Amino acid sequence: MAEVERRALTKTASYEAIPGEVGRVLLLYSGGLDTSVMLKWIQDEYDAEVVALTVNLGQPGEDFDVVRGKALDLGALECFVVDAREEFANDYVLPAIKANALYGGGYPLFTALGRPLIAKIAVEKAREAGCDTVAHGCTGKGNDQVRIESTVVALDPGLKIIAPVRGWQMGREEEIQYAREHGIPVKGGSESVPYSIDDNIWGRSSEGGPIEDIEEPPHDDVFNLVTKPQDAPDEPEDVEVEFEQGRPVALNGERLGLVELLERAGELGAKHGVGIVDHIEDRIVGLKVRDLYEVPAAEIILTAHKELEKLVGTIHQNNFKPTLDNQWAFLVYAGLWYEPLLSDLGAYMDAVNQQVTGKITIRLYKGRATAVARSSPNALYDAALAGFGESGGLFSQQASPGFIELWSLQSRMAYAIRNRVKEDK
Ligand code: ARG
Repeated sequence: MAEVERRALTKTASYEAIPGEVGRVLLLYSGGLDTSVMLKWIQDEYDAEVVALTVNLGQPGEDFDVVRGKALDLGALECFVVDAREEFANDYVLPAIKANALYGGGYPLFTALGRPLIAKIAVEKAREAGCDTVAHGCTGKGNDQVRIESTVVALDPGLKIIAPVRGWQMGREEEIQYAREHGIPVKGGSESVPYSIDDNIWGRSSEGGPIEDIEEPPHDDVFNLVTKPQDAPDEPEDVEVEFEQGRPVALNGERLGLVELLERAGELGAKHGVGIVDHIEDRIVGLKVRDLYEVPAAEIILTAHKELEKLVGTIHQNNFKPTLDNQWAFLVYAGLWYEPLLSDLGAYMDAVNQQVTGKITIRLYKGRATAVARSSPNALYDAALAGFGESGGLFSQQASPGFIELWSLQSRMAYAIRNRVKEDK
């Protein structure tokens, strides 16, 4: 029995493609080993046509002409290359900034934000190219399969999905073997590194290989973007980030589009060793994993955004919002981009961020990004009132004892009652 037929018998989701019904496949193609092997494998095993799609989310150093050429060489009918950097920055990263989005306290979600956009473009291109099936290179152990498949079937319930890596039982060595046998070029570079890497303008992750040994510090060869903090310049550097209604609009007084602003912030942070995160993470599929992140732009922008939010928010908003920020981050991590709760939360984030206008100066120094100066027309801060010994305007120190008496009333009563009960015993 052929491998694909065996797989068909074990189909578990209604949207999984069975071999007979696959005519033309839209393959999410990166140019790497997995998806290159897949491009050939699908043609052979499914007897299907393949259209490739590569999405540019600002992966540093990627040559998309080379990727396209490789796909066509391997028999793709077409290879779409879509530059989605603007859409990614404005419709995915910006909402994440407004929500101070960090999963597990350390992961700014760059991969999780990119997947629903990639999947949305896959649906559009599948329709345009007359494909009945979408194929991707995610494994069966990660979050990315959840994000891509849930988005594709939400947007087009008629599309089928194949995820060959989940079933083909080839390890790295077998894939390289397959590649050699089928004339697929196996380059050095990223394929000679023993890590699984994913990157875009909002960050870079490395997983797998030696990183899995959580008892060991990361090897130096993991880091490819951010300077080691100990090698960073001995002089600190300040960068002023300006926001309008939660959107970063300028760096050091220079107005920039969001894509360019994030790139520049990333370069500055990388130079100063900012944004290295060694993260133990709870995947949505149950496993725990260790990720090594390089997120210099996110470290600077999120630090600045949080600082400005604190300055313009009331005590009540500032205490409440982190809970919703966490919920927002969790839903995005979990691959539920079209969950209505996410847009409900997004409406709240937008409402709060209407006040988030102003400037924050971040000092970059040997791995740290710290807010050192701030200003905002909406700051709920009055330097005259904050000083010692001053009263006036909206604040009266004479009012304080009355406030304290009422504010502490229930706590004092409860304290007295509990002590009385103890003494009675
Ligand atoms: N752990 C992160 C996440 O689940 C990063 C995953 C990176 N993906 C990859 N294929 N290497 O979003």
